[in-house]
Amino acid sequence: MSTSDWLQGKLNKLFDMTDTLRKISPETYTKIDHDYGFWSLKKEIALMYLARPFQNIANSPNSYFSSYYYIDLFAGSGLVKAEDTFFVGSPVVAIGSTLKDKPFSKYICIEADENRCKVLQQRLDATCTHYQTCKAEVVQADTNAEIGNVLNKYAPKGDTCYLAFVDPEKYTDLNWSTLETLMRFGTGDIILNFPSHSVVRNLPTKTSVGAVASLSTFVGDSDWASQLMSLDDFLEYFKAKMHRYRREVHSITLYGDGRKRLFDLVFATNSKGMNNSLQDLSRRLDKIKTKTIKGLSEVANEKQKQLCGFA
Ligand SMILES: C[S@@+](CC[C@H](N)C(=O)[O-])C[C@H]1O[C@@H](n2cnc3c(N)ncnc32)[C@H](O)[C@@H]1O
Repeated sequence: MSTSDWLQGKLNKLFDMTDTLRKISPETYTKIDHDYGFWSLKKEIALMYLARPFQNIANSPNSYFSSYYYIDLFAGSGLVKAEDTFFVGSPVVAIGSTLKDKPFSKYICIEADENRCKVLQQRLDATCTHYQTCKAEVVQADTNAEIGNVLNKYAPKGDTCYLAFVDPEKYTDLNWSTLETLMRFGTGDIILNFPSHSVVRNLPTKTSVGAVASLSTFVGDSDWASQLMSLDDFLEYFKAKMHRYRREVHSITLYGDGRKRLFDLVFATNSKGMNNSLQDLSRRLDKIKTKTIKGLSEVANEKQKQLCGFA
């Protein structure tokens, strides 16, 4: 299948989920929802794509797992906006990508903001009913302070594995210790939206000291600061640390308008099957330009407005 057909198919699915949410939970866009660019749809597409092999592999006859969690460390409100187009956010994407015969056993969504939590719970209740999945747990908490407690309470250990989506807006939102707790917790695959745009602004240079203390909290040590690092060096340093916990750690860069580097999507897994899916996903995502996503989304959005009579 060509990359553009593949992309069109994925965007159509995102639009279907968005329309479903709009019908069952018709709150309009508010300031609570995030306003991102079209680049951000790549991360939702990555989650949608990887949810399928995750559930298939975790639930296969050879697997020894008895429960399969979706864990969202920075869940948001369930809706994102790119210019004047709405899309579902990561927790809705995970629920909408649930396989009927091999479903996630639980969705655990952590969000610090009270208002986002309230609207997210309403949206997820409606979404779970619509897709006939189990209920989603929305936990209002600071992920960095509470990750251990939340995992112990909502994802009791045993024969379990997880797919985690880790999507901080900026590097100061995520502490290395949080990611380490998650990776130590058990078997699981991780999709991390590494906030390159905020890292690069704060890396020390020849003429400035940079934000050494906060970057050290993000990466979990201060050894990195003994040499000047480019963004690529810093990302590789970070990935090498993740590699201590997962055999396969790969990344692709997400660009905004004008090919501005915004995030790097990092994937980490111990599973051979998941790694094969990652390689396929990375090849496809790497070829897709943000302006192509924007063009296809705008056409689909216009059609939808005409069909449904949206203003
Ligand atoms: C980039 S947005 C998440 C978007 C979401 N993953 C999606 O795809 O729609 C980041 C979210 O993390 C929340 N947040 C920031 N710091 C947090 C923390 N320490 N613990 C939990 N949530 C946090 C913010 O309120 C925001 O809603």
